[in-house]
Amino acid sequence: MIKIGFIGVGNMAKAIIKSLKNSSNNNFIIGGFDIDKNFKNICKNLKIKKYGSNSELVKNSDAIFLSIKPQQISDVLNEIRQVIKNQMLISIAAGVSIRKIQKLLRKKIPVIRVMPNTPVLVGEGACGYSFSKEVSTKQKKIAEKIIKSFCKIYFCVKEHDIDVITSLSGSGPAYFFYIIEAMIEQAKAFGFNETKAKMLAAQTLTGTGKLLLTTGEEPSILRQRVTSKGGTTEAALEIFEKNRLKEIIKKGISAAYKRAKELGR
Ligand SMILES: NC(=O)c1ccc[n+]([C@@H]2O[C@H](COP(=O)([O-])OP(=O)(O)OC[C@H]3O[C@@H](n4cnc5c(N)ncnc54)[C@H](OP(=O)(O)O)[C@@H]3O)[C@@H](O)[C@H]2O)c1
Repeated sequence: MIKIGFIGVGNMAKAIIKSLKNSSNNNFIIGGFDIDKNFKNICKNLKIKKYGSNSELVKNSDAIFLSIKPQQISDVLNEIRQVIKNQMLISIAAGVSIRKIQKLLRKKIPVIRVMPNTPVLVGEGACGYSFSKEVSTKQKKIAEKIIKSFCKIYFCVKEHDIDVITSLSGSGPAYFFYIIEAMIEQAKAFGFNETKAKMLAAQTLTGTGKLLLTTGEEPSILRQRVTSKGGTTEAALEIFEKNRLKEIIKKGISAAYKRAKELGR
């Protein structure tokens, strides 16, 4: 059995715990600690072990999730520094580097840095992850088993690529929400029902993602296939091209990448 402890049982941790519980080869014993006054009920609902402190959790876990906000990392690492031995730390905190975690701990312990995204909340997560060189082969296997149970698409990458993943799939949901907002606004402007527009746009996004993943075709090929000469799609795409929408999107992603790098420093 693998004992997994969650420091901070907020939105992301809850989603990960639910996925771990539902995973087919579940040999995890899950526990957590959180300063939330409702924590007792949270543990009861999630059916996880309730620890009395972060130190107690660390002493009793093989893998420890840092699922707190980035600004809470420093205090938490300070608190667990004395008790952590060679257990692996799995950090999902955005913008916090492996080096920073080890520096704050003043210990070169095994760290796995994971960059998930909010679709984890509905079992549709994607992530990139990186190992510090202290992570043993056995720990890597366990970490990957854990990651696979809460993300559908996952890639092990060099740590500097975590910034690319942050700007792509980490912030990605917000880009698509932005596009969907525009689609709904325009449908409403035509006098169409807002709720129906939202559902149609959301299913179009879900279906489009599925088409791309299941056919394995290039997105440009799939796009061309729905763009007939003189048709409606072509009329829209002409406007996008004329206004250099692709360039604007690339600029936005570059700004997110730059910000991820700045936050990591
Ligand atoms: N949401 C995303 O899209 C996303 C994507 C990728 C990565 N992440 C990362 O995931 C992490 C968690 O995000 P989240 O949205 O799940 O945050 P969250 O809902 O705020 O969860 C964090 C929890 O930790 C608790 N906490 C604070 N200080 C603590 C301490 N000293 N010991 C134990 N628990 C403590 C918080 O309690 P209080 O609320 O009382 O402070 C809260 O319940 C963040 O680092 C974020 O960067 C999030």
